[in-house]
Formats: sequence, structure tokens, C-alpha cells
Amino acid sequence: MGETVRAVVAKAKGEPVSICEIEVPDPGPGEVTVKVAACGVCHTDLHYREGAINDEFPFLLGHEAAGHVDAVGAGVTSVVPGDFVILNWRAVCGQCRACLRGRPQYCFDTRTASQKMTLDGVELSPALGIGAFAEKTLVDAGQATKVNDAVSPAAAGLLGCGVMAGFGAALNTGAVGRGDSVAVFGCGGVGNAAIAGAALVGASTVIAVDVDATKLEWAIDFGATHTVDASKCDPVETIRELTDGFGADVCVEAVGNPQVLKQCFYARDLAGTVVQVGVPSPGMMMPELPMIDFFGRGGALKPSWYGDCLPSRDFPMLVDLHLQGRFDLERFISETIDLDGVEQAFTRMEAGEVLRSVVVL
Ligand SMILES: NC(=O)c1ccc[n+]([C@@H]2O[C@H](COP(=O)([O-])OP(=O)(O)OC[C@H]3O[C@@H](n4cnc5c(N)ncnc54)[C@H](O)[C@@H]3O)[C@@H](O)[C@H]2O)c1
Ligand SMILES: [Zn+2]
Ligand SMILES: [Zn+2]
Repeated sequence: MGETVRAVVAKAKGEPVSICEIEVPDPGPGEVTVKVAACGVCHTDLHYREGAINDEFPFLLGHEAAGHVDAVGAGVTSVVPGDFVILNWRAVCGQCRACLRGRPQYCFDTRTASQKMTLDGVELSPALGIGAFAEKTLVDAGQATKVNDAVSPAAAGLLGCGVMAGFGAALNTGAVGRGDSVAVFGCGGVGNAAIAGAALVGASTVIAVDVDATKLEWAIDFGATHTVDASKCDPVETIRELTDGFGADVCVEAVGNPQVLKQCFYARDLAGTVVQVGVPSPGMMMPELPMIDFFGRGGALKPSWYGDCLPSRDFPMLVDLHLQGRFDLERFISETIDLDGVEQAFTRMEAGEVLRSVVVL
């Protein structure tokens, strides 16, 4: 039977998004429908609209969301209607080689709904297998992680992508610990989550790098101990100066830009780690680096997908830290908007005016 709901769809490459009436099927076996309560606007949604992820238009955008389970399909036991959940794009299969080796965060076969949501009979591609700029969406049951409903949906939803990606990039992928020096390049929602995570675990030097002075001011509120405006100075030299000439133990690239990756590479101390969480466009190439520098400097270059998180482990923990006042999710929310405001939110994101615009339904 299904239901028709309002949703934000990107119909063609580079074109403004439209509000459409889409059809959401009733959940089949292993699936759930979720009434979306809030969904943040992530830069990755804009990447989809720009055709920078793939060409499978039309996209149903939105993937940083929380809401209430509406209905569950056959065999679903993990959630029941009414449960408050955060949606995730890492519903692990439990059976692939990565899962069987005890590394489910690298699952090669993550689950999404088998049925398709449609627009006038045309199958939609939901962003990151979620599609939550919609009054209701359809996901695999494993994509819905139950958390304490004392948290506001707008704050909780942020854990569904950007904040989890940044936090995990620093702590899971980069293994930042107490006393470490950390430099985070790009202080949007993702970068500031890396900064907040590094501060939370006791990194002693947390350097925020951006080309936007306002973003750097905000980064201080998240726990940055120093700021570097890369539009005004050489960030590599400045980070060395701020770390007694050594460079940072961990550099996090949260922009998605080869030149910034190169800066991260050289701003590290010997044997330091570069974590790349910013998403490159398909045409971008790795920066040219003398191979002797790669070898000679040691350490690690590590891409980070979703902060190497496990939603079932990390979402409830981060909600608890938030409710205890130790990891402030509300601080990431620059404005709340409705579904009609997504296109303007992209403009504001590109202009650097917001950290996170959050659609509240
Ligand atoms: N790997 C993942 O799992 C994952 C998850 C979510 C988002 N992302 C990606 O992370 C990146 C950041 O996302 P966001 O939502 O925080 O985006 P954002 O646009 O809010 O933030 C990007 C920041 O980078 C800054 N910047 C731009 N050029 C710079 C430069 N040359 N040097 C330093 N700073 C520069 C901008 O001023 C801005 O503050 C995006 O590429 C996004 O697609 C990755
Ligand atoms: Zn798996
Ligand atoms: Zn995202």
C-alpha cells in the first residue's frame, strides 16, 4: 500500500533540488519505515546534487537523521514502532570477511532497504542508502539504531553522519589520545567534531585550520587550543611552530582537497598519522609527493569512512556523553529549517555561513 510523503529530490546534476511527493512502500522483511523528526544538511548531500558521487539521479537527499520507527517488516526484532532511532549508513552484515574477522566497521556488504522508494514510478537513489529529507523513509532495520529519547532529534540526527565521521576520524581512525597534538584542517561540522573529540580525550594541543575566520572562531568553542588561517599563512610552518618544531601527531583532512592533504602530510611529526575524512571529487588526484618523503617520514596515511564507527556501539555512547554535558551536540546546529529550506542551506554552506542547518519536521 505504502504512503505518499513530501521529500527533497535532486533530479539532475547541478540543478537546484525540488520538493516532490514520493511513494514510500510499507516495510518488507527486515525493513522499517521511520517518521523523520530531523535531518542535518551535510556537505555530502551537496556532493550528490553536484553529481560528484555518481550519476544515479534522481537522488532522494538527506542522510543525517533521527526519528521514530513507524512500522516494522517481518522478522524485525531490534526495534518496535515508536522507538526513537538515529539512522546510519553502516548496517553491518555479520557475514562478510571483514565482519567474520571481527572488524565489522569495515563491512563490505552493508545493508539497505531492498524495496525502492519512487517518484512518479521512477526508482529513487537514497543518499547513502538513507534518503531522510522526507517526512518518512524506508531503511533496513540495521540502519535504525535505538538511542535514549531524552536527546533532541535535531542534535541526535547529527550523529548519523558528519559528527560521527569527524569524532571517529580523530579517535577511531587517528587513535588520538591524551597528550597528543592534533591539527584539523577544515572546521565545518566534520572538522569541529574531530576537534571536540580530540579535546574530550585530552589531546594537549588541538590546532584548528581553516580559510574562514568565522569558522576558526567557532572552532575555539569546540575545544581548539590554537587557530591557523591558511589563507593568511603557510599552515605547515605555523603548525610546526605551534608544536615545538615537530609537527602534529595526527593531522585530520576534513576538506576533501589534494592540496590540503599535502599540507596534512607535511604538517605531521615523523611517524605521525594523516587521517583523510574529507570526500574528494572523482577527478581529484593524490598530491605529488617524493616517494622518499613518504618512506622517510614514516607513520600512516589513513582514509576514514564514517569515522570507522559502529553505530550500535557509538551512537548510544555519544548520546550519553551529550546528555551528561560532556559532548555538546547542540553547538553544531546553526539553524533549523523546513524541507523547503534545503537549497538555501546549500548556498549558506558554500558561503561558510553555517556549521549545520538541520531540517526539523
Ligand atoms: N568520510 C566520511 O565518512 C564523511 C562523512 C561526512 C562528511 N564527509 C566529508 O567531510 C568534508 C567536510 O564536511 P562538512 O560537512 O564539515 O563540510 P563544510 O563545508 O561545512 O566544511 C568544510 C570546511 O573546510 C574549509 N576549507 C575549505 N578550503 C579549505 C582549505 N584550503 N584549507 C582549510 N580549510 C578549508 C571551509 O571553510 C569549511 O569550513 C566534506 O568533504 C564531506 O563530504 C566525509
Ligand atoms: Zn559484513
Ligand atoms: Zn554526511
